[in-house]
Amino acid sequence: GRVAVLLGGTSSEREVSLDSGRNVLEALRSRGVDAAPVDGIPALLEALRETRFDRVFNVLHGSHGGGEDGVLQGLLAACGVPFTGSGVLGSALSMDKIRSKQVWQSIGLPTPAYRRLLPGQDVRAAARELGLPVIVKPACEGSSVGISRVFSEDDLDAAIELARRYPGELLMEQLVVGGEFTVGILGEMALPSIQIVPAGEYYDYHAKYVAEDTRYLCPGLEGGDEAGLRSLALAAFRALDCAGWGRVDVMRDEAGRNWLLEVNTAPGMTSHSLVPKAAAQLGIDFPELCWRILSQTLA
Ligand code: DAL
Ligand code: MG
Repeated sequence: GRVAVLLGGTSSEREVSLDSGRNVLEALRSRGVDAAPVDGIPALLEALRETRFDRVFNVLHGSHGGGEDGVLQGLLAACGVPFTGSGVLGSALSMDKIRSKQVWQSIGLPTPAYRRLLPGQDVRAAARELGLPVIVKPACEGSSVGISRVFSEDDLDAAIELARRYPGELLMEQLVVGGEFTVGILGEMALPSIQIVPAGEYYDYHAKYVAEDTRYLCPGLEGGDEAGLRSLALAAFRALDCAGWGRVDVMRDEAGRNWLLEVNTAPGMTSHSLVPKAAAQLGIDFPELCWRILSQTLA
């Protein structure tokens, strides 16, 4: 049957998704799959009405018009159309960093201390309780959009103003000082971890998609440390009811403790992206990776 590669959309991560989607499309075609691009959820619904596709490879990143937050998954489930990746619950929980943390905390998985920033709240008091430095984030964005690190109380207002430009709740989280890691998940397997070493200070939007001097070490750790990180990532993924594929972002502090940040249920598939790098470490090339993700919809 024919595969819709769902890309673009109207989220803050539209450009990233277009890039991911073009790569996936090319890879699937190279494997002989009859696939076509579809930009955004309304266009997909139109195409499905005309039954032009019988399954969906979803690389729409983000919420609010992206396809990563459960809305798309609900529509497709209701229409009986198979799709890649997590279902409604896993997508919705993962898109919301606050709810992800609540689930992890409830079962004793480590995640940095945080505060929800509700309207009218005393943000200075929250920062003092957590202890500076902190990081202020929109709860439901990706690709580091709207995020600020705050080292001084004087910078809190600007951080909150930036994060408020995006819809949904905000959170303030303790900034973990140490190394940044990510673990791709493919099916039931955690891929080798990647340690991210940005040339600048942070792994921000620029370091993610533009800079050519961000370094990636894969596997990121060795021996028991690597095994521990991978099994934590898999436990975090399963706790949020995620399935199929994804990527778990983790900070590792200077004492070697891991702290869960978030799960991405439609992770980037650009030439700079990390799930493809981790898969390559196991000898799974990009077309094979896309094929394996697609195959999960055939089960
Ligand atoms: N949100 C971006 C696409 C990622 O996690 O890779
Ligand atoms: Mg993300």
